[in-house]
Amino acid sequence: MKKVLVINASARGQRSQSRKLTEIFTEHWKGKRTETEITNRQLGSADVPHVNENWIAAAFKPETTRTEDERKALETSDTYIAELHQADIIVLGTPMYNWSIPSALKAYIDQVVRVNETFRIDATNIQYPYIGLLENKTLFLLLSRGDQGYEKGGYNEHMNFQDPYLKTVFNIMGIHHIHVIAINGISYGPEKAQKSIELSHQELKDLIDLELKQQ
Ligand SMILES: Cc1cc2nc3c(=O)[nH]c(=O)nc-3n(C[C@H](O)[C@H](O)[C@H](O)COP(=O)(O)O)c2cc1C
Repeated sequence: MKKVLVINASARGQRSQSRKLTEIFTEHWKGKRTETEITNRQLGSADVPHVNENWIAAAFKPETTRTEDERKALETSDTYIAELHQADIIVLGTPMYNWSIPSALKAYIDQVVRVNETFRIDATNIQYPYIGLLENKTLFLLLSRGDQGYEKGGYNEHMNFQDPYLKTVFNIMGIHHIHVIAINGISYGPEKAQKSIELSHQELKDLIDLELKQQ
């Protein structure tokens, strides 16, 4: 039985288009694989803690030498990381905010990119010292953006610090099987928005069907 972790980063609820994509994912996947276990992690509507002095001190020392305060400072990180390790499939829905990601998602990334937990360092490999520890996982990045042209070769490619950044971070943690579905041009009026929404919903369902065939 596959385990799916669904993460939502939008600050919006019902009106969120990236959240709608993760809902479609859950519905469509469960329709085909009823036995799937799904865990939900809300970031956009939660207070994701920022790393602080205790967190940093704790993360870079052996577990047995941590003080009680340092252990406490890592509790949220431990929970998030355990969820990532347990999942076979990670579904991340996120808007583009100011050409990158919402701050709640950045705070989450700071909590989960942790040495000896999600990656380790090979000091002999100066050019790419990262060895990812999240193995055999598939990531679906489900994105929403007000503007368009962010794809490879697009006129806004140079402004896109959303999926290139997310791919880099998840690659470092060991995830290389990554799919991207994006809604673009939400701000260009209802007609264009609707077209992009419908297209992305269909693309997502087709992608799930393909993924399931390959498993
Ligand atoms: C604070 C904020 C910043 C945004 N920054 C950008 C941006 O830099 N580029 C862009 O194309 N759209 C931007 N948008 C538009 C959102 O990406 C778009 O509305 C998206 O659908 C929001 O995701 P959601 O529907 O899941 O909430 C921004 C929206 C907000 C609220």
